[in-house]
Amino acid sequence: MPISFDLTPEQRELQGLASKFAREEMTPRAAECDRTGRFPEEVYRRAWELGLMNLNVPAEYGGSGLPLLDQCLITEELASACGGMTTSILANCLALQPINLGGSPEQRERFLKPFCSEYRLASFALTEPGGGSDAGALKTRAIREGDSYLLTGQKCFITNAPQASLYTVFATVDPEKKHAGITAFVVPRETPGVSLGREEDKLGQRASSTATVTLERARVPLQNRLGGEGEGFKLAMATLDSTRTPIGALAVGIARAALEHASRYALQRSSFGVPIAQHQAIATKLGTMVQELEASRLLTWLSAWMVDQGKRATLESSVAKCYASDSAMHICDEAIQIFGGYGYMRDYPVEKLLRDAKLCQIYEGANEIQRLVIAREYLRRFS
Ligand code: CAA
Repeated sequence: MPISFDLTPEQRELQGLASKFAREEMTPRAAECDRTGRFPEEVYRRAWELGLMNLNVPAEYGGSGLPLLDQCLITEELASACGGMTTSILANCLALQPINLGGSPEQRERFLKPFCSEYRLASFALTEPGGGSDAGALKTRAIREGDSYLLTGQKCFITNAPQASLYTVFATVDPEKKHAGITAFVVPRETPGVSLGREEDKLGQRASSTATVTLERARVPLQNRLGGEGEGFKLAMATLDSTRTPIGALAVGIARAALEHASRYALQRSSFGVPIAQHQAIATKLGTMVQELEASRLLTWLSAWMVDQGKRATLESSVAKCYASDSAMHICDEAIQIFGGYGYMRDYPVEKLLRDAKLCQIYEGANEIQRLVIAREYLRRFS
């Protein structure tokens, strides 16, 4: 198939739908939710009604079943209005992807369909208080007892945990086996032994919710195990191979908003008798910001395209996530600089963008881990 950067009429329509939703439903609430940390459930319900959630769930289970590239187009539009809300909207894709990839047809039917017939949230529970980057060393135990497993441990920084009705939990059946002991389970929220910790008070992305989930001998039936014992680590990695790309798109959306704000400001603010955009000091900043934004978008599109072609995109998804989030931080920082003192004030929109962008360098694998993955994947070509 020839390479084309033209979007189809259907893709433009999706982009338009997401952009309208972002403008009308998200933007008006973004500053208030950022200030108060309110979880705007009405926005998420509306996103669900419009088919802007569960984007990766196949149409046969009632989801949007969209190619990853289309998911990225939507994500960029949403994130240009609010990074935090976008994270909460995307969290279902992350939590449901292990079921998409590793669930049996019966499990997909049982777990995915309810998310598409009514508004519900799910959370991906991999990270633990003792460590996030070294996912292979997780400590949550899964002890087999007859036809079920007893899960005991703690998961932290779990997006949407307070509102989720289901968690995809990674636990080990044998810590000695390290990665080869890790197993994935679907844990309904109402399972006795599942409890929630306090909601985190975050620097940015404050419209999304984040909490700890504790499992205390939570009994999960064998039918809720995804794949076999020991297959959970690879399932988590394969999940992240596809979900890191939309994080790149999320960072692009935040960065685009910062660049647009900065550009408008630079054209209307004057100093030394001319709009500041005419000063080379500002124009060269804008020139670099545009380059970084364009490159970030193309890297996310490439990575999404690879996934859509059924190719493994471990390297490309890490490149997209890492480059786009580092660029977003730089673009937001420069946007604040262009706004000067106003940029530092909460009355102006750019300081929120910087705080929101920061999380993109940390979650779904810190950028230090992305660089490690990229180097490993690249070096493999020489061995
Ligand atoms: N696909 C399939 N298999 C993979 C894989 C992939 N992408 N990556 C690794 N594997 C396999 C390896 O081939 C290896 O298999 P064998 O044992 O059969 O040889 C096995 O998994 C172990 O791999 P490694 O030796 O590479 O594992 P490692 O421990 O050295 O490093 C890591 C792995 C890349 C550092 C990994 O731990 C990692 O990605 N850490 C970051 C975790 C992360 O991203 N967490 C995010 C949590 S979710 C979140 O933040 C989101 C939110 O709430 C919004």
